[in-house]
Amino acid sequence: MDVLTKIKLVEAKLKAILDKNGVVMPEVAIVLGSGLSDVADNVIDPLVISYDELADFPVATAPGHKGRFVVGNLGDTPVIIMQGRIHYYEGYPMTDVVLPVRVLARLGVKNFVLTNAVGGLADGMREGDLMLITDHISTFVPSPLIGPNIDELGLRFTDMTHVYDVGLQNVFREAADKLDIRLLEGVYAQFTGPQFETPTEIQLLKGLGIDVVGMSTVVEAIALRHMDIRVSGVSCITNLAAGISDELLCGSDVVDVGTEVGPTVTALISEAVRNF
Ligand code: HPA
Repeated sequence: MDVLTKIKLVEAKLKAILDKNGVVMPEVAIVLGSGLSDVADNVIDPLVISYDELADFPVATAPGHKGRFVVGNLGDTPVIIMQGRIHYYEGYPMTDVVLPVRVLARLGVKNFVLTNAVGGLADGMREGDLMLITDHISTFVPSPLIGPNIDELGLRFTDMTHVYDVGLQNVFREAADKLDIRLLEGVYAQFTGPQFETPTEIQLLKGLGIDVVGMSTVVEAIALRHMDIRVSGVSCITNLAAGISDELLCGSDVVDVGTEVGPTVTALISEAVRNF
């Protein structure tokens, strides 16, 4: 099945479920990274739609990724939350990895908050810190836009000068200021994973100006910018990257630290999305 046909099938299925429940697609979507799934528990009167209710929707297999949409109000703001995302390392084609965000954008979402768990490289970073993504490096993963251009979604060549919307970045800075949350800023680089990096790789990446490394987000941001959708990103530094500290890296620690920081992430995002 070609990519657009698949997108349209999932789109029709999700729209039918929303319509049946009398729910209008919110203009704000939040994609929750590893360990951050509790953010969705703060949605009032949620409509929960499991990904497996949607024909041809990839199944989320990563630890800490529940694989469902949660629709409702976060504070005063209507949002749709992806409680779990699809990663390239799960073995899906990149077009499946970005299918969920493309479907949401086609159904009316105008602003995305992409969250993720990352390893921190930059000097001064601490486990549990949050970082506003100001730019990314996509060079280490295949582009989700490879293949025939889908003209219905966007242009063949997409500008990447301001992937992370400058206005939304300011909204996050103001929210962090108001709530007295330490919010670092920097550049995110996506790697395929699922293995963590080696200390030598991390030293190399540091030299390239990368502040945090993770296994998601960038390809979603690219697919969304192709569709001219506004994107923002917040990283949770669940660990210092390999070799930066003496500790060995482990997936369950990533989820545990994400869970600990969850309430702060919820507060930050709830405050920010009010002002989108
Ligand atoms: N590397 C890559 N991805 C990650 C890391 C890391 O150290 N921590 C959480 N996700």
